Amino acid sequence: MAVRIAKLVAFSLLCMSTVFVAANSHTFARSLLPQELGLKKEKLSHLHFYFHDIVSGRNPTAVRVAEAKMTNSSATGFGAVVMIDDPLTEGPEMSSKEVGRAQGIYALSSQNDVGLLMVQNYVFTEGKYNGSTLSVLGRNAVFSGVREMSIVGGSGLFRFARGYAQAKTHTMDRKTGDTVVNYNVYVFHY
Ligand SMILES: *[C@@H]1O[C@H](CO)[C@@H](O)[C@H](O)[C@H]1NC(C)=O
Ligand SMILES: *[C@@H]1O[C@H](CO)[C@@H](O)[C@H](O)[C@H]1NC(C)=O
Repeated sequence: MAVRIAKLVAFSLLCMSTVFVAANSHTFARSLLPQELGLKKEKLSHLHFYFHDIVSGRNPTAVRVAEAKMTNSSATGFGAVVMIDDPLTEGPEMSSKEVGRAQGIYALSSQNDVGLLMVQNYVFTEGKYNGSTLSVLGRNAVFSGVREMSIVGGSGLFRFARGYAQAKTHTMDRKTGDTVVNYNVYVFHY
């Protein structure tokens, strides 16, 4: 008898849990605790790298993919759209260790100065950050001393990332237009 009751109880518990699981898998939205995603303490990280925007030569990493009819007659290049896959390196030389790439778009979006709309992902390939990304969205007035852009999110180790990137031109070759930019990125993430 006792065994039968125990079996019955076990069976009804199983049914109930099945119902709960089924209900869960069809639930559109629910709240959960950060621990359920393995999130512990939020931390702040500082990343430093050099961004190489190579527009000249046989293997450019930045290519113009679109423009308006009036772009060439605009003093600020207004309307041009450039696709990039720019190397990010530890030091300022191209030969220094690559830590990732900046992949995405910059578009000349200002009629009064040379101002870029930056929409890019930093795709890291080095050490523990290999495979993690940060997403950047911001304005880059390239002839200003220090430009600041928002870090609006991330993936991998940078899930829930938010912060800012500061860009400062390191060198610009006036003949070719190739540019090396010093980046400091500050992000909160888990
Ligand atoms: C603008 O100038 C570039 C480079 O000189 C040229 O390749 C392109 O065809 C021009 N575009 C227009 C719309 O005139
Ligand atoms: C980064 O990850 C990729 C894919 O898992 C792997 O092929 C590559 O060797 C890794 N790079 C480094 C520097 O660990």
